[in-house]
Amino acid sequence: MNTIDIVIIGGGMITYDLLLPSVYHLQRTGYIGNIKVCALDSAPLKALKQSKEIAEAFPDQDFEAYPALTEPEERKFPDLYKKVIAEMKPRQMVIVAMPDQFHYPVVMEALMNDQHVLCVKPLVLKYEQAVEIEKTAFNKGLFVGVEYHKRFDRRSLMAKRSCELKQFGEFIMGEAKLIEPYYYRSSNFQNWFTCDKTDPFVYIGCHYVDLVYFITGLKPVEVSVSGIKGKFPNGNEGYLWANGRIRFENNALLSVIDGLGYPDDAAGSNDQSLQMFFEGYGKTGMIKHNDQFRGVEHSYLEGIGCGGSHFNYVSPDFYKLVPWEGEGYKPVGYGFDSVAASITMAYQIENEVCKMSGSESLIKRQEMIRNTDNKGIIATPANSYINELVVEAARISILNDGEAVTIEYGSNPHVKMRSKTK
Ligand SMILES: NC(=O)c1ccc[n+]([C@@H]2O[C@H](COP(=O)([O-])OP(=O)(O)OC[C@H]3O[C@@H](n4cnc5c(N)ncnc54)[C@H](O)[C@@H]3O)[C@@H](O)[C@H]2O)c1
Repeated sequence: MNTIDIVIIGGGMITYDLLLPSVYHLQRTGYIGNIKVCALDSAPLKALKQSKEIAEAFPDQDFEAYPALTEPEERKFPDLYKKVIAEMKPRQMVIVAMPDQFHYPVVMEALMNDQHVLCVKPLVLKYEQAVEIEKTAFNKGLFVGVEYHKRFDRRSLMAKRSCELKQFGEFIMGEAKLIEPYYYRSSNFQNWFTCDKTDPFVYIGCHYVDLVYFITGLKPVEVSVSGIKGKFPNGNEGYLWANGRIRFENNALLSVIDGLGYPDDAAGSNDQSLQMFFEGYGKTGMIKHNDQFRGVEHSYLEGIGCGGSHFNYVSPDFYKLVPWEGEGYKPVGYGFDSVAASITMAYQIENEVCKMSGSESLIKRQEMIRNTDNKGIIATPANSYINELVVEAARISILNDGEAVTIEYGSNPHVKMRSKTK
């Protein structure tokens, strides 16, 4: 079997906490060849190279850094990713892990250079961009996965199956919460998480909207998001809290609260949950997921927990490095499963077509891409475009003090301020 090469664009938190370890594990288990990481400057690349945790888990594994570590940290390389992508062999994979507003140009650059793509969520901030990505990728027979990892949490998969088997009834009312830690405010977030670019609903609330759509198949048709602004330590102003309300096509309502403010001293590492009520005949059904406390508590001697805390609710489900039969430690959890699903999909596609002629290969790749879209487990531009519509509507709403924004489907899906539709 042929391995595929990986280029990760962006060396920040998600690369450190999930992507690079997952890619390393897939390299040593035979799916991945060469690994390159490209960041804006050398600082995050040094942090990845010097990480004791990563080195202990993946002894003797390494990546090529762009820019080189010898470059001064102050020197910025905003366009270097173009050169790194252009140098790849065709139909390898680019992982896009930079701030939200850069996803569109970088995904397009990868597609134009004939590369499969895995993009962290949200894919893009505009529906039209998602459509363009979907069409460009399909025409070229390139796979695009979007890293909505909550879809791979076993509880979500169980809920989806039970919903499909009509074991709950019809979704009618729900409540979700995802509050990230306070210390995020002093991270690199303060440079890009500004009011004009994004907000807590778009950043994390979208996970739960996608999840309710994933579980029920219901499309969101109206979005209203109110935000509360505050200052980051560097003086930039951002929405630090957001409260969203989503109406689905059957009139069901989901409220979602999000923020960058879970106390650093608390047991965390963040707070998150989902509760959904369903109407049945003469009774109701319910799903309740506590996504924060998953039954494991650790109390450390030193403050090595999130935000320097001693006592922690530890999630064994999202992503952890654990002992295994091989060298070092291996990543486990739905975060790893989600990254692995997209990478191994590109690997499978390429191995399936490696002996085919050009036209035969394109038809086969397109068939495999459509099957993945239709299966609806891995998020793709074709099966998760409702998220772009929700994000687009949410941005308009939060910038207009929570005004309701409707999503209209049909042949030309678009969003519209409700007050303007009257
Ligand atoms: N739960 C999730 O699914 C999840 C969690 C965290 C982050 N994310 C997503 O991941 C993305 C990145 O988030 P993060 O927390 O890692 O952010 P971060 O701020 O920690 O890192 C951003 C990285 O992008 C790099 N970058 C910026 N401009 C660049 C350029 N022109 N060329 C190359 N690299 C460039 C920076 O060097 C930095 O390493 C965001 O879109 C975020 O929404 C998703």
